[in-house]
Amino acid sequence: MDNEIVKGMSSMLQVLTKQKRLKQWINEIQPISKKGRLATYIPQLGTANPDALGIVICPLDGDVLAEGNTSTPFTLQSISKVITLALALMDHGPDKVFSHVGMEPTGDPFNSIVKLEMMKPSKPLNPMINAGAIAVSSLIKGKNADEKFERILDLTRKLLNNPGITYSEDVYWSEWETGDRNRALAYFMRETKVIEGDVEEIVSLYFKHCSIEVTCFDLAQLGYVLANYGRNQRGEQLMPADVTRVVHSFMVTCGMYNGSGEFAIKVGIPAKSGVAGGILASVPQKMGIGVYGPALNEKGNSICGVLLLQKLSEAWNLSIF
Ligand code: DON
Repeated sequence: MDNEIVKGMSSMLQVLTKQKRLKQWINEIQPISKKGRLATYIPQLGTANPDALGIVICPLDGDVLAEGNTSTPFTLQSISKVITLALALMDHGPDKVFSHVGMEPTGDPFNSIVKLEMMKPSKPLNPMINAGAIAVSSLIKGKNADEKFERILDLTRKLLNNPGITYSEDVYWSEWETGDRNRALAYFMRETKVIEGDVEEIVSLYFKHCSIEVTCFDLAQLGYVLANYGRNQRGEQLMPADVTRVVHSFMVTCGMYNGSGEFAIKVGIPAKSGVAGGILASVPQKMGIGVYGPALNEKGNSICGVLLLQKLSEAWNLSIF
């Protein structure tokens, strides 16, 4: 038989085997969603199907793999912090950004207020916790709130290779109505001069980018761009490689909040979670991964998503450590 045909058949077989394994893992892990909880502190997120679980893998070389609930839309929530950090770094460079937000992990929950008062100077510890992300949102360039959000949306559409991306008004208003802890963080930071300007406008921008709606396919595209040091599949450089290095570092040290250490040991892949149940993962020079499972563990990370990534990392030897 022709060599090319043999190669083609063997790669098709590999894809089918991988696809079968993904299906098995999803079937095995999915019942564990019963042990998790939806993030009802944003009431609209409480309407999701807690049993949903899906994964899309977008390798730098090879075919896209998709299994489970891959086309269910969900909001980025904290995963948007990766995009706003990248945009702020492109707008201002690292010196300015890191004069407003730190570079260190925190052992506290993502919405904790306690360290803001304890740290001197009082800037938030990192851009992945809520306080840090609000400080980053305050830095996004634009002549008014609408233009700032349009710039975030525009970069998101490019990174996700999806011009149809928009935000969920229902989730936005749901968080706007209930987001007083985030407002408290923002007002505290204005008093300590970490942020300046209209606090209500800054938190609204933050709520809006958290409400951007995506699927696992979109997250896998974003993971691909990060894994490919800023280039998309068409070879366009959407962000400088240096920015992806900073983003990957934060994903490893702070991306899964106070679960980041355990995730680094058990999974070892740069990742960022959101309370709607998404996990963005990026294996440098190998693949982008998007996972969705809205039932969360006690740290606010997708309970089944974390287990699925652990299986994948162990079976395919993906840990970067
Ligand atoms: O500010 C909040 O609480 C949400 N918009 C985002 C939090 C989040 O996604 C934490 N993730 N695990």
